[in-house]
Amino acid sequence: MKVVALMGSPRGGSNTDTITEKVLEGARSAGAETNKIMINDLQVSPCTGCLKCREKGECQQYNDDINGLVEELGEADALVFGAPVWGGFIPGQLKMIFDRMVGAAVKIEASENGAQITSRLPQKKRSGVSIAVCASPAKEMTEATIVFFNHNLSLHANGGDIREIRAPGLSAHGMVKMEAEDMEVILEQMGVENAGLMAVQAEKANQDLLDDAYEIGKKLVN
Ligand SMILES: Cc1cc2nc3c(=O)[nH]c(=O)nc-3n(C[C@H](O)[C@H](O)[C@H](O)COP(=O)(O)O)c2cc1C
Repeated sequence: MKVVALMGSPRGGSNTDTITEKVLEGARSAGAETNKIMINDLQVSPCTGCLKCREKGECQQYNDDINGLVEELGEADALVFGAPVWGGFIPGQLKMIFDRMVGAAVKIEASENGAQITSRLPQKKRSGVSIAVCASPAKEMTEATIVFFNHNLSLHANGGDIREIRAPGLSAHGMVKMEAEDMEVILEQMGVENAGLMAVQAEKANQDLLDDAYEIGKKLVN
């Protein structure tokens, strides 16, 4: 059983990275092999929209890391997509990778009922996890990212379950794993009233979120 994650924050040790890692830790505890791909380690050129990839699923312009990425996703029995919310959606560099995966990982064919979009990955049941992280305390801020990831995961799922992790209120780097004392300082700097109480509540909420992420990782395997 192999679980592959695409970690869409450009920062290692970030909130998205920590939550993604928790899911993988849970999966490993249940016996899975895991691989976390950091978008900052990938060299991928932006799609030019020529659509020459449609026929064979191969880009005719660039020979870059997209092929290795798609091969790795294809080997996976479960996929994890994680991203911070930037301007209401995923970071541009991650969107660029998904743009290039249209063609490489996805087949678009005309049919009587309009365009048919199917997976080019080897057919197997693949469960998935969508992770979206934002600074806003409103969970709705994660909606577009979750919908986008769910759509992409469902293309390759072949009946596998898809789970969601929405992580609001994470306004500082590494906040999800911060202790209340450190968080209080940040909240005070932000001018938050009752920073001490809020920090204690946030630490508890973040710990619950990481515990849930671990359990979700275990469920990918069981
Ligand atoms: C360029 C940029 C745009 C952002 N846009 C939003 C946004 O639209 N809504 C929001 O709630 N947070 C926004 N944020 C905050 C991040 O989503 C938040 O800090 C998140 O925890 C960062 O995740 P990371 O630590 O995994 O990189 C933005 C951050 C950056 C750097």
